[in-house]
Amino acid sequence: MTDSTARPVPEAFRDSANVSATSYDEMYRRSLEDSDSFWAEQANRLLHWFTSWESVQSGSLAGGDARWFEGAKLNAAYNCLDRHLENNADSTALIWEPEDESAENRRFTYRELHDAVCRSASALRGIGVKRGDRVCLYLPMIPEAVISMLACARMGAIHSVVFSGCSPDALRERIDDFQASVVITADQAIRFGRKVPLKARVDIACENLESVKRVVVVRRGGDDVDWKDGRDLWFDDLLRGAPSDSPAAEMGAEDPLFILYTSGATSKPKGVLHTTGGYLVYAALTHEVILDHHAGDVHWCTAELGWITGHTYSVYGPLANGGTVVLFEGSFDAKKPARTWEIVDKYQVNSLYTTPTLIRTLMAQGDSHLETTRRNSLRVLGTVGEPINAEAWNWYHSKVGKDDCPVVDTWWQTETGGIVLSPVPAAESIKPGASAKPFFGIEAGLVDDSGELLEGEATGHLVLSRSWPGQMRSLYGNHDRFVESYLSANPGHYTTGDAAHRDADGHYRITGHVDDRITIAGVTLDTSDVENAITSDAGIAEAAVVAYTRDDGKDGIYAWVTPRIDTVTDNALADALKNRVQESLGETAVPDVIQWAPALPRTRSGKILRRILKQIANGAVDDLGDTTTLADANVVDALVELRQKGS
Ligand code: WT7
Repeated sequence: MTDSTARPVPEAFRDSANVSATSYDEMYRRSLEDSDSFWAEQANRLLHWFTSWESVQSGSLAGGDARWFEGAKLNAAYNCLDRHLENNADSTALIWEPEDESAENRRFTYRELHDAVCRSASALRGIGVKRGDRVCLYLPMIPEAVISMLACARMGAIHSVVFSGCSPDALRERIDDFQASVVITADQAIRFGRKVPLKARVDIACENLESVKRVVVVRRGGDDVDWKDGRDLWFDDLLRGAPSDSPAAEMGAEDPLFILYTSGATSKPKGVLHTTGGYLVYAALTHEVILDHHAGDVHWCTAELGWITGHTYSVYGPLANGGTVVLFEGSFDAKKPARTWEIVDKYQVNSLYTTPTLIRTLMAQGDSHLETTRRNSLRVLGTVGEPINAEAWNWYHSKVGKDDCPVVDTWWQTETGGIVLSPVPAAESIKPGASAKPFFGIEAGLVDDSGELLEGEATGHLVLSRSWPGQMRSLYGNHDRFVESYLSANPGHYTTGDAAHRDADGHYRITGHVDDRITIAGVTLDTSDVENAITSDAGIAEAAVVAYTRDDGKDGIYAWVTPRIDTVTDNALADALKNRVQESLGETAVPDVIQWAPALPRTRSGKILRRILKQIANGAVDDLGDTTTLADANVVDALVELRQKGS
C-alpha cells in the first residue's frame, strides 16, 4: 500500500533551519495581519534599494492593479551581484557543468560574473538597446544565458527567455508578441551529444519580423551558421570592446523585469509579466525560507532557464541571497541515472530542487545507480511542477536523502513568481505530498463549482485572495486578458486552475489541474488519486490516467503505466493494480485499460502531457496540437503504436 505516513524531520536540520516551525507560524500571522511592516522589514533586510518606497502596497489583487514598493528604486542585477562584492567577491556565484562529463566545467566568482554582466550590459547599450526595450533570449543552458538575463536587468531592458526546444513558429509568435529588438542565441545547442541548430531556427523565426534589429550569437556548438551582415553579431566580438564600467540602471520597483510565456496547449501563449521589486523580494525570501539557504550553500535547481523555476530558483532568488548556483547544460538521460548524483557529490550540493518527473524517471532505473555516490552534502530536497505520488516522495526522501533531509513539495505557477504553498522545512514531520501551508503573505482558499468559499476540511478550486509581492502584474500588452483569465471566474480572488484538498489542520494537497478531473457515472475523480493507487505498487514507476470513450460509447478510464526496470508486466500485475484502485477508491475508479508504456510524453519542464495521452487513448491522433514543448517526440510515436496494437 501507499505509505503516506509523515516522516520526521531530523533534529539537526530543525536546529539549524533559518525559520523554526513556531517562528514560521508567527511570521505567517504577521505577514497577513501586519502586512506592510512585515514586507517592509523583509525588503530592507534582503535587498539594496537606491531609493525607498512611498507605499509598501497599493491597488489590489482583485482589482488587477496590485503594486508593491511604489516609488522605490532598485536594480535586480545590482542586488544579485554588486551587493555581494564587498564581502564575497571571491566566492563562487555560478558553476556550469557541461553535458559531456569529460569536458571542462566553468566557474564564476561573484567578481567574475559581475564583470561579465557589466560588459554585456555595456554591449547591449552599444547596439542601441534602451531601457524598456524587449530582448529575447533563445539559448542553451550555458552561463551566457544567466549573464544575458542579468545584463538586461542591469541596463533596464526586459528579457524574455524562450525555451530552446521551441520551434521556429513558436519562437516567432513570442518575438512578435513582445516586439523584441534583439535576439540573443547560440550557433548550436548540444543535447544528447547532438547539435541543435538554434541560430538557424532564429533565422527562420525572424524572417520579415521588423522589430528585430540585431541577432547576437554565442558560440557553443562551433559549426558554421548562415550570417546576415548588418544584423548578426558574435557575442564574443561584442564583449571584447565593451567597457566593464556599467552603472546599474535605477529601476522603479514596478518596472517590468521580464516576460515569460506559459505554454498555451490550446490557446495563444500568455506573456506573463513580472516586475522588479516585489518579484525579487519574494524570490529571495522563498529561497531563503523554503530551500533553507545559508551563507556558502550550493544550490542546484534542475529546471531549464526558459521556465519560471529557472528564473526564480536558478538566478534571481539564490543570487540575490549570495548563494552558489549549479547550472547543468545537459538533458537528464535515463541511460545515465547516476549522473544526477555525481553532480550532487562533485559540487557538494546542499539544496536540490527538481521535478517529480525526474525523480520517477530515475526511480524507474532501480536503485543501483545510487550506490556509487554518497550525497552527504544534501540538506533540503525540493520538488515542483506536478503532484508527487507517495512512492516517488518516499524514494526521494529515503533513498536519495537517506532520511536525512526534509522533502518540500512546493506548489506554484509561472504567474505566482515564486513558491506559494509548501511544507515548512523545519516542521516536526512532513507527509508525502501533503503538508503544504501557504507561504508568508498568501491567503489561500477553496471554492466550490459555484464560487462559494468553503470552510474547514474541503476539496475545491484553489484560489488566492489577496496580493503578494511576487504575483504577476499583467499579461504583456493585454491587461484585459489578464483580468479575464485569472480574476473573473471567482470575483475577488485569483483563480489558479488547480484543484486541491485541505485537511483539518489547514494543510493543502494539490490534486491536479481542474481540467484533468474525470467524471464517471456522475462521480468526479481526481486523476492523481487513481495514479497514486497504481503507483503504490513497488513494481511501478509512473502512471497517468485519462478519460476516454470506450468501444461501447460509455465514459471510461485509461491508465498509462510505466513499470520499473525489473518488473514483469503481465495480466496478473494489471489485475493487481486494478485491485489496488478498487480498494482505495471503489469500483467506479477502476481503469478499464491498463496500458504498459515504456515512457510517458512530457514537456521539458517535467509535466506529463495528459492532453496528448487523452488523444492517443481516444484514437484521435491525426492532430496532436502544439507538441513543441515535448521533451522527446519519439515517445508519442511509440505510444500511438501500442494503442493501435491494443497490447
Ligand atoms: C502548474 C504551474 C511552478 C513552476 C513549475 C511549473 C502544477 C506545480 C505543483 C505541485 C502539484 C503542481 C499546477 C500548477 N504544479 N507545482 N507541487 N504539485 N501540481 O510552472 O508551468 O506555470 O505550471 O503546475 O498544475 O498550476 P507552470
